[in-house]
Amino acid sequence: MKKNVVSALARTSRLSLLLALLIFTASTAFAAKLATVDIPVQADLYAVAPVPLSPTQCAQCHTGVFGSLKDAGGKHRFDCQQCHKVIHSYNPKKANYDEVMPKCASCHTDVHGPANKDCSTCHTNPHTPRKVAMSPRLAGTCATCHTGPKAELTQFPSKHTQVACDRCHTSHGFKPSCFKCHTPHFKDQLADSCTKCHSVHKPKQVTYAAGDWTATCASCHGKVYAKLKATPSRHSKVSCTTCHKSKHGYIPQCTECHKAPHPKSILDRFPKCLACHLDVHDLPKMK
Ligand code: HEC
Ligand code: HEC
Ligand code: HEC
Ligand code: HEC
Ligand code: HEC
Ligand code: HEC
Ligand code: HEC
Ligand code: HEC
Ligand code: HEC
Ligand code: HEC
Ligand code: HEC
Ligand code: HEC
Repeated sequence: MKKNVVSALARTSRLSLLLALLIFTASTAFAAKLATVDIPVQADLYAVAPVPLSPTQCAQCHTGVFGSLKDAGGKHRFDCQQCHKVIHSYNPKKANYDEVMPKCASCHTDVHGPANKDCSTCHTNPHTPRKVAMSPRLAGTCATCHTGPKAELTQFPSKHTQVACDRCHTSHGFKPSCFKCHTPHFKDQLADSCTKCHSVHKPKQVTYAAGDWTATCASCHGKVYAKLKATPSRHSKVSCTTCHKSKHGYIPQCTECHKAPHPKSILDRFPKCLACHLDVHDLPKMK
């Protein structure tokens, strides 16, 4: 048994000696024949760490994508490869396009809540992230992100309540001029004055700051305006909204401006000032 092992060992060592000899002869005699051409090794070419392409270098081929990021990339204007960890690995045979493309979820949470997880339905181009095109999907979901306008339109019913959001907001974030659908109250009235009185999502709740709005009032209350303008009374110097202040339809008390004009005994008998003064817009001469 011991003898057998020894002889086997002896046989193998002799065999490997023979093999080593063979390899040695081959390598010296046939080294140049491994390839059919002569190309010297240039190991120095590989003695460096490659620098990843900069966005500008990617842009030399991807001009369109670069342009989109440049013009409307917003906060996505950082290095391409922060998103594209792998590039040029799309293979039609593997149909792996979706797999190799960056995932919003690798950096973002459900920013608009669980109802809006399908980011790319609205953010169709990640290189222009804030450009959200109008679509039936978007139009149906305005109120999931903007609760205010919907609530106002519902709480204060007006004809605007029947107008769909996207009939006015024809693209996302676009705010239409009132003149697109309305004419002004009077010639030369400016478009930017409208929202000083009308809050567009509750247009019938008309409120206004102090100022002279007489031209607007006169456009509907022509008779009152004509009367006040013609009256000899000093009320003609008072503008409509000095009396009818703050909101449409407000009726002032005379005593807001006139403190105790007559003895108490008279006012107790005639509590309504207009019982004697008759018409506030055209006070008759009393003397
Ligand atoms: C914020 C992440 C992000 C950044 C930054 C980004 N990309 Fe993309 N890119 C994506 C996503 C996501 C897609 C997949 C879009 C889709 O589903 O079609 C994509 C698609 C692409 C495509 C293929 C589709 C197409 O539009 O042609 C190219 C090419 C591309 N990106 C190049 C670039 C280059 C070049 C840069 C830098 C200059 C860059 N990207 C920066 C996220 C990004
Ligand atoms: C020398 C030209 C060239 C350069 C430089 C280049 N690309 Fe591309 N890239 C291509 C071509 C060609 C395609 C395939 C056609 C296409 O989709 O536009 C492609 C496809 C892509 C795609 C989509 C398909 C895929 O397999 O990923 C992405 C993403 C992409 N490139 C990103 C980049 C980024 C990021 C850089 C810079 C780091 C870059 N490329 C640099 C030529 C280039
Ligand atoms: C590599 C990380 C990364 C990926 C992937 C990514 N984002 Fe972003 N995104 C950011 C960062 C960072 C910001 C800026 C955040 C901030 O300022 O708080 C941002 C901002 C945004 C903004 C606001 C842009 C602006 O200019 O205000 C939108 C919209 C957005 N991302 C959508 C997406 C969508 C949709 C996807 C998928 C297609 C996506 N992002 C993929 C990192 C990423
Ligand atoms: C139903 C459409 C819709 C979906 C789905 C959607 N978004 Fe948005 N997102 C928008 C709109 C519209 C804006 C506002 C864009 C603007 O500034 O005009 C926006 C804005 C953003 C902003 C900027 C927020 C801010 O307050 O500045 C980020 C970040 C963002 N989206 C990321 C995402 C991500 C991530 C997803 C998927 C999880 C996603 N969005 C899904 C429509 C959508
Ligand atoms: C997924 C969330 C989301 C959806 C859905 C969405 N928006 Fe927005 N919207 C935003 C964000 C975020 C902004 C930018 C931040 C801001 O100004 O409130 C914005 C801005 C706006 C602005 C500009 C606000 C200003 O003060 O200038 C308008 C107008 C607007 N959205 C209308 C709409 C309408 C109409 C719809 C439905 C067709 C809609 N949005 C759907 C998220 C959304
Ligand atoms: C009759 C046209 C009209 C309709 C209908 C309408 N809007 Fe508006 N919206 C406007 C105008 C005009 C502004 C700008 C108001 C301003 O500048 O004071 C605006 C402003 C906004 C703003 C930004 C300011 C704010 O009030 O927060 C948002 C968000 C908005 N609308 C969302 C909506 C949504 C959501 C709906 C549907 C539920 C809707 N709008 C319906 C015309 C409309
Ligand atoms: C896209 C068209 C559109 C735009 C933009 C628009 N409106 Fe209207 N508005 C309407 C329609 C339609 C009605 C109903 C008209 C009718 O039945 O005669 C209406 C009615 C009104 C009414 C009467 C409401 C009622 O219930 O009687 C007021 C007030 C009004 N709009 C003010 C405005 C103001 C102010 C703006 C700008 C901030 C504006 N609208 C922008 C379409 C629009
Ligand atoms: C000084 C305040 C004021 C200004 C500024 C103003 N409005 Fe009015 N508007 C009113 C009042 C008050 C009503 C009547 C409301 C009612 O009947 O309850 C009205 C009614 C309307 C109506 C309802 C239809 C009608 O004529 O009866 C429309 C439409 C309208 N305004 C559009 C506009 C537009 C467009 C502008 C800007 C050019 C504008 N308004 C500016 C106060 C104003
Ligand atoms: C678009 C037409 C229109 C404009 C502009 C208008 N009004 Fe009126 N106003 C009316 C109508 C219609 C009524 C009667 C129905 C009602 O009470 O809403 C009225 C009623 C009134 C009333 C009486 C309320 C009551 O309780 O009897 C006063 C006061 C009034 N308006 C003042 C003004 C003043 C001040 C202005 C200018 C800031 C103005 N109006 C602008 C149409 C208008
Ligand atoms: C917003 C303030 C205001 C209100 C409200 C008001 N007035 Fe006056 N009134 C005036 C002013 C200002 C004058 C002029 C006083 C002056 O020039 O010294 C005046 C003058 C008068 C005069 C003197 C007329 C004249 O031509 O000399 C009478 C009478 C009068 N008011 C009665 C009334 C009565 C009655 C009411 C209620 C129905 C009323 N006023 C409501 C501000 C107001
Ligand atoms: C000095 C304060 C004052 C001024 C200025 C004034 N009003 Fe009045 N107005 C009143 C008072 C008080 C009433 C309530 C009268 C009553 O109870 O009979 C009234 C009632 C009204 C009414 C409802 C009753 C009617 O006569 O039709 C309208 C409409 C009106 N005013 C419009 C106007 C307009 C438009 C102007 C400007 C051209 C104006 N007012 C200027 C104090 C004023
Ligand atoms: C019983 C009738 C009567 C009643 C009620 C009455 N007045 Fe007079 N008022 C007069 C007469 C008459 C004059 C003119 C005589 C004068 O100058 O004293 C006058 C004058 C005035 C003047 C002008 C004073 C001046 O110096 O120019 C004011 C302001 C006035 N009244 C306000 C009011 C107010 C406000 C009320 C309600 C609180 C009221 N009046 C109630 C009869 C009345």
